[in-house]
Amino acid sequence: MSSLEQTAAVLYGEQKYPQALDIYLSLYRKNPKTEKYSIYCGSCFDALGKPAQAIKFYQKASKLNPASVTTLLALSQLYYQKADYVNAVKFCERVLKLEPHNASAYLNLGNIAYCQGAFEEALSYYEKVYLQDEKNYLALINMANTCFDLKHFASAIEYAHKALKLYPSSFDAYLIRGNSYLELGKYTKAEEELLLACELNAQNPWVYNAFSRLYQKLERWDEALLAGWKALMCEPDTQDEQHINFGYLLYEYMAEKGGTLAAKYAHQWLEKFIGNKLVLYMANAILNNQQIECAEPRYVGKMFDVFAPDFDTTLAGLEYKAPQFLAETAQKVCSKPFWRPLHVLDLGCGTGLCAEKLKKTLGWCLINGVDLSAKMLELAASKKLYHHLQQADITTYLSQCAQAYPLVTACDVLTYFGNLKIIFNLVAKVLKPQGVFIFTVSENRIDDADYHLMPSGRFVHNISYVKKLLKYCGLSLLLCDRKALRTEGDKIVYGYVVAVRKEFTIAK
Ligand SMILES: C[S@@+](CC[C@H](N)C(=O)[O-])C[C@H]1O[C@@H](n2cnc3c(N)ncnc32)[C@H](O)[C@@H]1O
Repeated sequence: MSSLEQTAAVLYGEQKYPQALDIYLSLYRKNPKTEKYSIYCGSCFDALGKPAQAIKFYQKASKLNPASVTTLLALSQLYYQKADYVNAVKFCERVLKLEPHNASAYLNLGNIAYCQGAFEEALSYYEKVYLQDEKNYLALINMANTCFDLKHFASAIEYAHKALKLYPSSFDAYLIRGNSYLELGKYTKAEEELLLACELNAQNPWVYNAFSRLYQKLERWDEALLAGWKALMCEPDTQDEQHINFGYLLYEYMAEKGGTLAAKYAHQWLEKFIGNKLVLYMANAILNNQQIECAEPRYVGKMFDVFAPDFDTTLAGLEYKAPQFLAETAQKVCSKPFWRPLHVLDLGCGTGLCAEKLKKTLGWCLINGVDLSAKMLELAASKKLYHHLQQADITTYLSQCAQAYPLVTACDVLTYFGNLKIIFNLVAKVLKPQGVFIFTVSENRIDDADYHLMPSGRFVHNISYVKKLLKYCGLSLLLCDRKALRTEGDKIVYGYVVAVRKEFTIAK
């Protein structure tokens, strides 16, 4: 090893990656055919968080030595980090051709499947590793985690237990065990495990989230709120997920206990996170502050990403009838020649419940869907109901939309908008002359205001406001039926299914 190379290795060991990279780049330039310099450069770029450059150098190394398993695994990892799962799988498969039992390749394949929500497949890859080597901690902890996602809580506990035998200070193992006992209703056990997790890492927000859920179940609400607050305080840069969890906790607290303590926390939350739009929207929903005009898109996208896998079953459990009502209304008011498809734009299409009913009722439709949530869209795509799907905010999408539609739908979506003026104007713009817009709104039974932001973060509307605005936007009323749209707890959520026709457009 040359002295320059030795210096670079020392710098790399000391995590002085930019300085190490400078030396490795100069060595690479002088010796472009030497595999190790490409690898070192790739590894420095990786450490510096520059995956695209890292990939470039690892690919050079792979060309020089196509049989290097280390390089192929590095490439698979880098593509995985970039969420380019096709290439990540491709490089794992190349490893497995060279080494059919390579544990790292199987673990990578497991992680790739896991990230795509294919939990059974992920588990089968981790199990392959475990069957080869029962002492592989990564295989065990991933099996435990995946079993938890699959709701196989007893297996999750068992695998986490085995992981703890190999690595007794595994925070993850205690957390998985705590969460699993919680799901199984074994609250004393859950608390014991969570306390152990907390001893190992008191700065991890997820352990406080777990405590918060545990105390909710035990109806120790003060402690639940305190744990929720601690989850927010763990990291200097609190993630959106933690804010969404906290907002939901306050909402549940209000539903159970009323407002006072929730309001105290909501004020505290606003003060601590000044300028955070997500907090502004969620805290004001709790505080019943009616200055907010629409839901924060970051909140909507993330919340539905989390909700997506359970959306269809949960809504079926809530006797969600809005898509059926909307499709029946479309059948009544849309004239559709049978020899060509009806072009439909489904705003906030979610998992496609509305498209499913529209196709059943109207027959041949070409439906384009727009939604903020990538996970909801993935499920919609898997049902093969849509002609085209796009991840976008409705307002942005409508303002850039070049196509004119004879039918636009918005089923249980306008509940994320208070002020409907912009949406109605934009819909009027994308409708063909005589085109129809069918949507649902939830009924404001709280006060006389045009719309009211509920602690749930959803808006309810006054139907006379909706009608007035529709008229103002050149949309004339065809139908407006009051319906029981779904249930919430033991209550019925009433709303309106509204159909309007575009008569003229007012430029505003
Ligand atoms: C309650 S779900 C209804 C989904 C579907 N329409 C149905 O009836 O099953 C509301 C959907 O609207 C989407 N959404 C809410 N606000 C949105 C916005 N500003 N832009 C795009 N999508 C939005 C959410 O992501 C979610 O998928």
